[in-house]
Amino acid sequence: MGRVALVTGGTRGIGQAISVALQAADRTVIASYFGNEEAALAFSEATGIHVLRFDAADFDACAAAVAEIEDRFGPIGVLVNNAGITRDATVAKMSRDMWDAVMDTNLGSCFNLCKLTFEAMRHANFGRIVNIGSVNGQAGQYGQVNYSAAKSGIHGLTRALALEGAKFGITVNAIAPGYVDTDMVRAVPSEVLAKIVARIPVGRLGYASDIARGVSFLTADDAEFVTGTTLSINGGQHMY
Ligand code: CAA
Repeated sequence: MGRVALVTGGTRGIGQAISVALQAADRTVIASYFGNEEAALAFSEATGIHVLRFDAADFDACAAAVAEIEDRFGPIGVLVNNAGITRDATVAKMSRDMWDAVMDTNLGSCFNLCKLTFEAMRHANFGRIVNIGSVNGQAGQYGQVNYSAAKSGIHGLTRALALEGAKFGITVNAIAPGYVDTDMVRAVPSEVLAKIVARIPVGRLGYASDIARGVSFLTADDAEFVTGTTLSINGGQHMY
C-alpha cells in the first residue's frame, strides 16, 4: 500500500482530478467531501477511491476524520488542501456570514488539517503538503474580497509552514490555479466569464487535470527540494 494521501474536496472538480492523479502515483487516496454525497459515492464507485464526509472548516470534525484515517489506513503522508467555496458579491452586498464561510472553509481548513497531520509527518520525517490557492489570491478579483483574502492567506500560510517543515522532510507548497472548467467557474455569470476567458493568453479555461499535474509533481517522493513555492497554473492570465 502506498503512502496515504488526503485530498479535501477530493470528489468533484479540481479535487477529483487530484485524487485520480495521486491514485495513479500509487498513493492510498482518501477524498473528503461535505455537500454532495451522491457525487462522492458515484466517484468512489467509479474509481475505488475511498471517500469520507466531514466539514473541513470544523476543527473537531477534522480531528475525528484524521484519527479515523490513521486508524484505517495509517499516517497521512500527503495532504492536499483543496476544499473551497465562493460567496461572491461586492463588498457593499457581502454579509459577515459570507466572509466567515469563505475564510473558514478555504483558509481555516488549511490550518486545521496542516496542524492535525504535521506531527505524524514530523515523526515519519516525510510530508508533502499542497495548498490550493488561486490566481484571485494573487491578483485580486472584483466581487471576491472574501475569496481573494482567503486565497492570499493560503499563499502566506504555505511559506510560513514551509519554514517549519523544512528540517523534518516536510515540503509545503501552493498551487495558484487560474480559471478552471469546474462547477465553481461555471457559476460565474456567462458574460463576466467570457471577458475573463478573453484575457487568458492560452485561450481556454484550464482543465482540472492541468492542476492535478502540478500536484503530482509537488507531492512526488523525490520533490524534497521544492518547498515554500507557489506554482501558478493559469494559462498565462497573470504573470509577475
Ligand atoms: N471590474 C470592474 N467593474 C466590474 C467588474 C470588474 N471585474 N465586474 C462587474 N463590474 C461592475 C459592473 O460593470 C457593474 O457596474 P455598473 O453598475 O456601473 O453597470 C457593477 O460592477 C455591478 O456588476 P454586476 O451587475 O455584476 O453586480 P452584481 O452585484 O449582480 O454581481 C458580482 C457582482 C457578484 C461580483 C458578479 O459580477 C460576479 O459574479 N462576478 C464574477 C466574480 C468572479 O470572477 N468569481 C470567480 C469565481 S471562480 C473562482 O473563484 C475560482 C478561482 O479561483 C479562479
